[in-house]
Amino acid sequence: MTDSADVLILRHLFAPGHPFVSGSALAEALGCSRTAIWKRIEGLSQAGYRIEARPHAGYRLAEVPDILVADEIRARLPGNPFAGGLVVFRETRSTNDIVLREAEHGAAHGFSALAESQTAGRGRLGRRWLSAASRGLWFSVLFRNTGAGMLRTPQSLTMLAAVAVARALDAHLARPAGIKWPNDLLLGGQKVCGILVEARMDADRLHHAIVGIGLNVNHRTDDFPEELRTGATSMLLEDGRERRRADVLVSIFEQLDRAARLGGSELAGAWRERCETVGALIRVQTVDGVREGQMAGVTEEGHLLLRGPAGAMETLAAGSLL
Ligand code: BTN
Repeated sequence: MTDSADVLILRHLFAPGHPFVSGSALAEALGCSRTAIWKRIEGLSQAGYRIEARPHAGYRLAEVPDILVADEIRARLPGNPFAGGLVVFRETRSTNDIVLREAEHGAAHGFSALAESQTAGRGRLGRRWLSAASRGLWFSVLFRNTGAGMLRTPQSLTMLAAVAVARALDAHLARPAGIKWPNDLLLGGQKVCGILVEARMDADRLHHAIVGIGLNVNHRTDDFPEELRTGATSMLLEDGRERRRADVLVSIFEQLDRAARLGGSELAGAWRERCETVGALIRVQTVDGVREGQMAGVTEEGHLLLRGPAGAMETLAAGSLL
């Protein structure tokens, strides 16, 4: 897909330090008139960007509000498959549903949907996922089995997303995020992010999967319902800083693209380093009842390795830590 005029203009405006860029330089780069550039700048101002126009200097991004605009993400991440395929909604039921539907209509690997708010966001085990409007990042990305080293299980995609988001958070927070098997990211023992992978299998091979990510960014305590307040946190509650969600999304898309290139053992190794319960005695609720033992680690498929009381090793594909 070729970049639109807005993507190209935003790429210049978002260059490091947000420098002035002249109307004639933009017109030349885009092969259009200065009037056409001025019209696009007007459009971007209406979208919410505060762009200063100074005679003889050109245009400069004077202020960047907390808005989520697909063209900005594309402008900042040239060649990134998730940014290239991004669609942003003001409100939708669930971004996983959007990506699921588009996947069935042939959307390419990397197609992604983000919503400012979800009316029926869902979590694992049929739980509701509350998606406070404009506070967090609620989005889903499509992974297709391209055949080139992408033969992953749904659980290994959960692992991939957890490693990618944790690494992305390192760029924004002083304290590293920990991972709780199978799908939570924690800050100080409280949940900051949840991951929901919904996969379509082809016989026993993964055909495509929707990786849904919910990250609490600018939530204050009151944004969480009473019953979640002790277990949930946000980046803002972690260090008191309000953030532009687009900056966090850029880091996540970068890291997702990198993590997708990791081999299975590298990925499992990176996951284990972040996991807070490796080596600990744990209890796991599975469909067959509660299992107890020492968490020995995780396999490349994202399955939990549990050493039972008699020393025998068990592999659990699904479950919840109690
Ligand atoms: C969990 O912790 O149980 C997983 C939560 C996943 C929430 C995200 S928000 C974006 C995407 N759309 C959904 O409906 N769910 C995921």
